Amino acid sequence: MPFRGSSSLRRHPLRCFESVVAPPLFRSSGTNRSIIRYAHSNPLNHSGDVKKIEFADIGCGFGGLLICLSTLFPQKLMIGMELRDKVTEYVKERILALRAAHPGQYQNVSVVRTNSMKYIPNYFDKGQLCKMFFLFPDPHFKEKNHRRRVISPHLLDEYAYALQVGGVIYTITDVEELGDWMKTCLENHPLFEPVTEEELKADPVVELLHSASEEGQKVARNGGQTYRAVYRIASPM
Ligand SMILES: C[S@@+](CC[C@H](N)C(=O)[O-])C[C@H]1O[C@@H](n2cnc3c(N)ncnc32)[C@H](O)[C@@H]1O
Repeated sequence: MPFRGSSSLRRHPLRCFESVVAPPLFRSSGTNRSIIRYAHSNPLNHSGDVKKIEFADIGCGFGGLLICLSTLFPQKLMIGMELRDKVTEYVKERILALRAAHPGQYQNVSVVRTNSMKYIPNYFDKGQLCKMFFLFPDPHFKEKNHRRRVISPHLLDEYAYALQVGGVIYTITDVEELGDWMKTCLENHPLFEPVTEEELKADPVVELLHSASEEGQKVARNGGQTYRAVYRIASPM
């Protein structure tokens, strides 16, 4: 699903921060106004502690993974980062509809329209995240476009900064060459080590890599092969 740009994106230049359920919603007469004050209104926040986002789905597309993670990890705050304006809007509306249909749930998930490749460092503190997801990223086949890939040696430095020690990067693709690329980048990075097969079997998130996102479901429907690389931060930066 390569991003080709759109006139609507040109009309709305990217801003670093554009929270999912922030001001635009307040202009509507939505009945959720009182409960959705912030992108995350997890009831846990009301204790006075400000909880931080711990999961980030980079290039979240239509948000299928986030929706699954939200109920699987109700205590964790998570965010999807998505480049396309309309897709982000869709995810935003999807979250709001789920919140309305299931009061008290889905308060821990939000989405932001942003170019993650440029702005990740603006969003997260050092060691803030415990999981980052890169599900079926755009392959950018041509060599001159490899610099546009969301996994690269340079970007892994940024992800390593945002991840805590033990924090995990999950990647999956149906493009063998991209799978090799992501694995090689992770393997060659001094701060990452592979998560063992035994640990992967015990991790409930792993199954979701294949089944939860819209792209993953499409690949599964077509019987496509997938290439997974899951690595963790082994030592502090
Ligand atoms: C092939 S889709 C996969 C979507 C989703 N992860 C899934 O598995 O269904 C790749 C997504 O990454 C988004 N994307 C590409 N580059 C991005 C960037 N620099 N920042 C944020 N999102 C990006 C695209 O807009 C697209 O929605």
